[in-house]
Amino acid sequence: MRVREVAHWHIAVLKQKQFQLSLLVTQIAFDPETLVPRRILIGANAHAELGRALSAILGDRASQVEIRGNRHTELSVADLDWADAYVGFRRPPAGTMGNVRWVHCTGAGVDSWLYPDELPRDILLTRTAESFGPMIAEWALARALAFTQRLASLAESQKRREWASCDPAFVRGSRALVVGTGDVGAHIARAFSSMGCHVAGVSRSGQGDPSVFDTVHEVSSLGALVGDANWLILALPLTSATRGLVSPEILSACRGAVLINAGRGAVVDEASIPVALENGCLSGAALDVFEVEPLPQSSPLWDHPQVMISPHNSGPTTIDGAVSGFIECLRELERGELPKRIVDRERQY
Ligand code: OXD
Repeated sequence: MRVREVAHWHIAVLKQKQFQLSLLVTQIAFDPETLVPRRILIGANAHAELGRALSAILGDRASQVEIRGNRHTELSVADLDWADAYVGFRRPPAGTMGNVRWVHCTGAGVDSWLYPDELPRDILLTRTAESFGPMIAEWALARALAFTQRLASLAESQKRREWASCDPAFVRGSRALVVGTGDVGAHIARAFSSMGCHVAGVSRSGQGDPSVFDTVHEVSSLGALVGDANWLILALPLTSATRGLVSPEILSACRGAVLINAGRGAVVDEASIPVALENGCLSGAALDVFEVEPLPQSSPLWDHPQVMISPHNSGPTTIDGAVSGFIECLRELERGELPKRIVDRERQY
């Protein structure tokens, strides 16, 4: 092994040890059996459906458990004082979690439980088992094809009953750089490579599934790689390491890429996107996530002709996915085990 490889190996071992240590600390901090809930509060638009699906799966046990739900924004301090477990993607705005001892996050990213204030560490935080990768891959590929097939301009011409010829470009033969090589990044990579695109991956560790990525690099190489990319695709959670990762400098090193962001808005310096579009560093942007959501009316992104906006719906939580992830954790607690899907507060995902 070369010196660099040995150093990487030591760092990987140290990180693994740090992870095991933080899990051990978590295990000491929680007594699983005392976390088995009696009063479950659901904070979601689909709370009624979720509640029904949960009761159905609990079967006979449903009589020992009370379930209450509302949109997360409508939940009161009294609801949170009533509950011992909470199921939902976003944090209720009440400013307290009341008597909740266990939060089960039903979304792909858990950042709303870590920022701006971290959920107190004596509350167990688990995350869904649902794989959002396949849905987000379709969203990302649809955006790329909308650009290459010039769908916006064709729709405009059609409105004017105009037979305007405009040749498409192709995803085939183009180059994608996918930042984040986890479940979401790997599904995106598979979708783009199935279209004949060369796909490079970037991750913290420089690791990624070699059967889906043509090459994988460490995040420190991002600035050197973006210049070759036609598609700069972000599939990252928001952590203290990823916040602002796609900085003005990284954007200015791009040479005409389309930025596709399905991770978190705050991973990119959002104010620099219009600048990068004006100076040609970016040739387009498809954004599902924003620093502030809903995207404020005053944002220049809304009416930028090269920007495609969607309202954070690239990978919606399904009822089955939400319920089965919660039940998996519940069964583990009932067996006196700490759930495998516990969020590592140090890694922040
Ligand atoms: C997310 C989600 O984490 O929508 O973005 O689940």
